[in-house]
Amino acid sequence: MTEKERKEATETSEAQIAVHWQEEGYVPPTPAFIAQANMTDPTIYDRFSLDNFPNCFKEYADLLDWYEYWTEILDTSDAPCFKWFKGGKINASYNCVDRHLAKHANKTAIHFVPELEEEKVDHVTYQELWVRVNEFAALLQDFCGLKAGDRVTLHMPMSTELPVTMLACARLGVIHSQVFGGFSGKAAADRIEDSGSNVLITMDAYYRGGKLLSHKEKADIAVEEAEKMGQKVDKVLIWQRYPGKYSSDVPMVDGRDYFVNDLLKDYYGKRVDPVPMPAEAPLFLMYTSGTTGKPKGCQHGTGGYLAYVAGTSKYVQDIHPEDVYWCMADIGWITGHSYIVYGPLALCASTVVYEGIPNYPDAGRCWRIAQDLGVNIFHTAPTAIRALRKIGPDEPAKYDYHFKHMTTVGEPIEPEVWRWYHEVVGKGEAAIVDTWWQTETGGFLCSTLPALKPMKPGSAGPGMPGIHCVIYDDEGKEVPPGQGIAGNICIQNPWPGMFQTIWGNRERFVNQYFERYCKDPNSKRWQDWPYMTGDAAVMAEDGYVRILGRIDDVINVSGHRLGTKEIESAALVVPEVAEAAVVPVKHDIKGREPDLYVALKPGIESSDELAKKISDTIVREIGPIAKPRKVWIVPDMPKTRSGKIMRRILAAISNGSDVGDTMTLANPEVVEEIKKMEAASK
Ligand code: PRX
Repeated sequence: MTEKERKEATETSEAQIAVHWQEEGYVPPTPAFIAQANMTDPTIYDRFSLDNFPNCFKEYADLLDWYEYWTEILDTSDAPCFKWFKGGKINASYNCVDRHLAKHANKTAIHFVPELEEEKVDHVTYQELWVRVNEFAALLQDFCGLKAGDRVTLHMPMSTELPVTMLACARLGVIHSQVFGGFSGKAAADRIEDSGSNVLITMDAYYRGGKLLSHKEKADIAVEEAEKMGQKVDKVLIWQRYPGKYSSDVPMVDGRDYFVNDLLKDYYGKRVDPVPMPAEAPLFLMYTSGTTGKPKGCQHGTGGYLAYVAGTSKYVQDIHPEDVYWCMADIGWITGHSYIVYGPLALCASTVVYEGIPNYPDAGRCWRIAQDLGVNIFHTAPTAIRALRKIGPDEPAKYDYHFKHMTTVGEPIEPEVWRWYHEVVGKGEAAIVDTWWQTETGGFLCSTLPALKPMKPGSAGPGMPGIHCVIYDDEGKEVPPGQGIAGNICIQNPWPGMFQTIWGNRERFVNQYFERYCKDPNSKRWQDWPYMTGDAAVMAEDGYVRILGRIDDVINVSGHRLGTKEIESAALVVPEVAEAAVVPVKHDIKGREPDLYVALKPGIESSDELAKKISDTIVREIGPIAKPRKVWIVPDMPKTRSGKIMRRILAAISNGSDVGDTMTLANPEVVEEIKKMEAASK
């Protein structure tokens, strides 16, 4: 397939709305914000210029405590698998917990906010976090026999136990792979198999929308499915939502399932020395969707990753130890790993972990949490901002909280929504950062430094210090800033937070992210390996970047990446389905939703039951987040003469836009039929 054909076949319409936004004017931060900010020195951009690369990143590494200081800042000998801070020895758990005890043992590390308002907030101090991490690490070591380099899959909801589990793994050098709690048992199984985990850590239940959802059955499915794929899980450790009580009615499997709270009794008072890990040892895997069906395990290292998230938490999130910081993402996504757990805890912040949904029991919940805990830094995604704006536009004014700083992340934010966030949620006082980055990148790529650069609604801002963005056209020619022309945004240089490889698949890592713009595949110089992000973007004259959306087969639903191929393969699990095509549809709150088109095998009748069966299968295979807006059972797919499904045309129909020229299709009449179906459904 040529590049042009590929684009035609898969083009998402993300770019289309974004491109109509006008370039907005600057909004300055308040003098009060600037007066207290961590980073007010404009020379930082010079210090992190390409001339000073890679040594500039010493500044970030020096925010951490090292057992052994590194000897080589960047090893490029295995390019593009770059190694940062080579020779260094470090432990992430030590940096996020132990080192704060001398001065801050009694400070809250984690405020766990249960979804039910009548349940008390659990304020976990650094001392208590240290005790819990130690005891659980001892259990992992002794009871499970885990050691540095082993992989463990976590399938946990938002809870204090999730960071405790991650930090206990990190203490031992065990590589954790947390799967978003909302994902299905099958999705967990795929990740268990790919990572080769033989221990699964989960929780019995959690609250969502006021209901206590049983979660344990997903572990049963995960273990069963993983086993079918050849990966045996020996032990399932189950945390209890209410310690001492089992909140699920799914039976425990003898000799396989264990309640953590029972086992922990044997580990009371146990301490485990953090294992000094090589800086480049993997810290965790985070699976994300890509251009093929199989999710890829982004492998993040220890020293580089931790240095990068600590540095960016300090200078972009403006976290001081006295701040109360609330990032409303789920720890099951990269945002939660970097900016709920590792970054904030490395800086000794108090970080809020909220169990539930933003509008439970009503549209004022977030602002009550902010008021009651004294949250002064708030971090969320446009999808949540849109939802809160819709259901409670006047709620923030009713509560006495004051944010000095707010973040938006995960998808483009419409300037209108940005302004509501700034004026109503931020009460005109908060500096906003629009942070653009990815699971792969570990930390921010573009954002303003909040005291140094003015905000520009709808624009993520310039490259971070030490992140040198470049926009290439399809031929690999650079698109200069200020032309109003979109292209493929790439990063010219590696940086410490960048993933090290795709777990077990270096070839895919190289092909997908580097091959297209690589200047010399045999080169060991970083200069020859620009990183291709897979996003389309426009760079303004001032270097501010506006992200327009993905150039590959990925749909961004509520700020979460779903591979169209992943959803399509889930649909094909239904035996009646012959072909499936997924396209993104605009949605007021979620940004995008998947619409699913299927063609059935010959002789099979279309029915509402079958459509429901297909939709339910997708939910079972991936999770409710992937549930299609609608399943369209069509007589045939619009196809090119070479037989390729024209997703662009389906996307146009789903979005009510012009389908353009269909005469080159092999079966143009199908387009009319589908349009009629669509019109009839209204
Ligand atoms: O398309 C970009 C979009 O989300 C993708 C990365 O998704 P994920 O790996 O799930 O990480 C989400 C958390 C960082 C990007 O390729 N994206 C992310 N942040 C922004 C964004 N689009 C526009 N503006 C952003 N601030």
